Amino acid sequence: MTGPTEGSGLADLTYDEPSGHPLGPLTPPEIRAAVSAVRSSGRLNENARFASVTLDLPDKGALISHRPGDPVARRIRMIIVPSADATVVEAVVDATDGRLLSWNEIPGVCPALLFEECMRVMAAVRASSEWRAALERRGIKDVGQVQIDPWPTGNFGRGIETNRRIARCLSYFREEPGDNGYARPIEGLIVTVDSGRGEVLEVVDYGVVPLPPGKGSYYPEHHQPLRTNLRPLEITQPEGTSFTLDGNLLRWQGWSMWVSMDPNDGLVLHQVGILDHGRRRPVLHRASISEMVVPYGDPGPIHGWKNAFDAGEWGLGRMANSLSLGCDCLGAISYLDATFCSERGDPYVVEHAICIHEEDFGILWKHQDLHANRTEVRRSRRLVVSSIATVGNYEYGFYWYFYLDGTIQFEVKLTGILQTQAVAPGGTSSFASPIAENLLAPYHQHLFCARLDLQVDGAVNEVHEVNAQPLPLDGRNPWGNAFVAVDVRLDTELAARRDIDATTSRTWKFVNPTVRNGIGQPVAYSLIPESSPTMLADPTSSVGRRAGFARHNLWVTPYSPEERRGAGDFPNQHPGGDGLPRWTEADRSLVDADVVVWHTFGLTHVPRPEDWPVMPVDRCGFRLVPFGFFDENPSLDVPAPDTACHDHRVAD
Ligand code: NI
Repeated sequence: MTGPTEGSGLADLTYDEPSGHPLGPLTPPEIRAAVSAVRSSGRLNENARFASVTLDLPDKGALISHRPGDPVARRIRMIIVPSADATVVEAVVDATDGRLLSWNEIPGVCPALLFEECMRVMAAVRASSEWRAALERRGIKDVGQVQIDPWPTGNFGRGIETNRRIARCLSYFREEPGDNGYARPIEGLIVTVDSGRGEVLEVVDYGVVPLPPGKGSYYPEHHQPLRTNLRPLEITQPEGTSFTLDGNLLRWQGWSMWVSMDPNDGLVLHQVGILDHGRRRPVLHRASISEMVVPYGDPGPIHGWKNAFDAGEWGLGRMANSLSLGCDCLGAISYLDATFCSERGDPYVVEHAICIHEEDFGILWKHQDLHANRTEVRRSRRLVVSSIATVGNYEYGFYWYFYLDGTIQFEVKLTGILQTQAVAPGGTSSFASPIAENLLAPYHQHLFCARLDLQVDGAVNEVHEVNAQPLPLDGRNPWGNAFVAVDVRLDTELAARRDIDATTSRTWKFVNPTVRNGIGQPVAYSLIPESSPTMLADPTSSVGRRAGFARHNLWVTPYSPEERRGAGDFPNQHPGGDGLPRWTEADRSLVDADVVVWHTFGLTHVPRPEDWPVMPVDRCGFRLVPFGFFDENPSLDVPAPDTACHDHRVAD
């Protein structure tokens, strides 16, 4: 890798024209033109809403072969909600000339929850006399003190929910507006609302549970005195940053990539590659979190139906925060804004939705040679591309890291506030942790489905599984110490449904069989998983069927532009079976194919008292490390930061 040669003109020429590039971000004029095209088609009435408006990227082959001066195809894909029913329209518009290219009405599916209908749902609940009566049974007279959280409902085959868009509402008590509502769940009360029509369908009260006494504040005024012995820790980069941004095209130390924000997936990286001795070598064509699910483990009527798909039911990009310097990110920061379309069809911008910065990351490599009396140490640093989404009570921070040694890492930081359950004094549960007086937090999982569209030195990649396996005690292994790294190619989709195994140090290797490194091996990148769980819910359960992607840690499919999300395009209220389980049932061949890897990872959360009233960050993720992609350690050309870090004479 030769980072400093960046800008020397050796980079792939595709990268010289970020404006008007197929991967450039969606612009407000494009959104206006697309909305105008579908409105003027006469097929929509004024009640139609725009659930999502995104760039419909050209086919992978066309994107890879795009060269400066080529015509730039800009198509916009829109998911439109035409009426109060569970039907959507998928429309595609040519953004350059406003032509309506396709119009596909899909009955029986629901988009992510619309913000406008969430407001309508809350208003309907507030107006419900049954709900007010349930509050009065709990001594709550002022409905202004009640926080209402609309939830996606899942699909439990209930007749009253058929062909409707549904929200299920939970209520929380806030004595004062600034209170933490999750400290005082109004337990036992659930309201089911037709969110398309704003009509309360059902109010169920399972019985009064007293409000927990604590207020669960995490505000500084309630935690005085604050500690006073934290001295300033400042990051200074007196010569500026080592990365450059050209529109949404990011370059750093040989790495280059396009960065964008998708309403569903949140952060998306495109065409991630690295310069190696003047040659740009692709690694990933596109990488994002395609779906996630949070199944709760409590079987009772209040919490048993909770299994949030925070991408497909809410949208990790739609819920993205505007980030603040010195708070969310520290140091010399560059931000990217994200442009979205409102539900009424107007473009709007979330400023500072994506943060880009560098971090010192301890040592990169070191050796002290006692014979030569010489030490060499290098500092590691990483490029960070991040965004944070708030989905109801929870925050998810999404962090891509790029390192000087060719490693790519993805990390989710989980924080925010737990889902809670009130219990009578002395009450306990087998399915929830006590976190405060008369307050429990149900066990749950967070399972993310990363979609990694590979391009390791070219489009055709193989996926191998590597397991460290001990040999039996025999003539070949007389001391019983021997183990081998067994490398097996995964040739079909069913064979490539795999799970993590820490006992064999299992990794998956993405191999380009047509490109060899300096010692004759096919070049590869390896996926190093963490000790991630798979889904604990039964595969035949509602969430088990709807989040089938979470049953395995690894899936591999041949590239298909229609296969975008692990649970399918419309997981909200879906009966299940869509996405990875359905596609891979065809057991397509993965040999000589352009493959997409889907990695499900996450954590099982047994809450602690220390997670209350606001959770210190927990984390999960994975790493992609070069495995024979380079001929040797690619960071030997990193200079020592100080003369004291090399040629240091050890005192004798
Ligand atoms: Ni959690």
